[in-house]
Amino acid sequence: MAELAGLKIVPGYLARPQQEALLEELRDLVRAAPFFTPVMPRTGRPFSVRMTNCGPLGWVSDISGYRYQPAHPATGKPWPPMPATLLSAWQELAGYPHPPQACLVNYYAAGARMGLHQDRDEEDFAAPVLSLSLGDEALFRIGGTSRRGPTRSFRLASGDALVLGGEARLAYHGVDRILAGSSSLLSDGGRINLTLRRVTPPSEGAPDEPETEMSRAP
Ligand code: SIN
Ligand code: FE2
Repeated sequence: MAELAGLKIVPGYLARPQQEALLEELRDLVRAAPFFTPVMPRTGRPFSVRMTNCGPLGWVSDISGYRYQPAHPATGKPWPPMPATLLSAWQELAGYPHPPQACLVNYYAAGARMGLHQDRDEEDFAAPVLSLSLGDEALFRIGGTSRRGPTRSFRLASGDALVLGGEARLAYHGVDRILAGSSSLLSDGGRINLTLRRVTPPSEGAPDEPETEMSRAP
């Protein structure tokens, strides 16, 4: 299939020491905001992937639908702040002049997968989605903007970054499977994927425009 404009793969973006440091930060994050098992809207069928979030907003899915919300569905507490490593990855790779508002943290145990879908629960698609992978390799699949078009697949390894921007922002994508045992990063195996997103168009008062409070001062 033709190259998708706006699809960028950066193999080995995070070196092993940076992956280990990020993993440490994620351990604290998961203590504050434990992984939960989302379920499909209407059917209530559980996802095989477990999820949590950090940042001002987090993506959730339950019987009533998909949405972004400011609090963890089980603890009711605000999502923990985004680790600095994630904010700087966004600054380096996103090419978008406002900070990310949500980071979805997916955990794939050996048999987990994610069906083909578009990321389209955001109000604005001007910013890319930035994905970082840790742990076991994934067989990642991506197509075009129509569900039935051709797709191709490639492996995403620990430390790899992927940017879905431009034409690729609304490309169908998913994870066919995890290659168990392909990385030694996670002691219990499996894969963590982080996706950073903008949810709302930039505007005065939008969540996490760090300048906002200052710019309101006289
Ligand atoms: C996602 O589409 O939310 C996750 C993609 C991935 O795990 O690489
Ligand atoms: Fe996605």
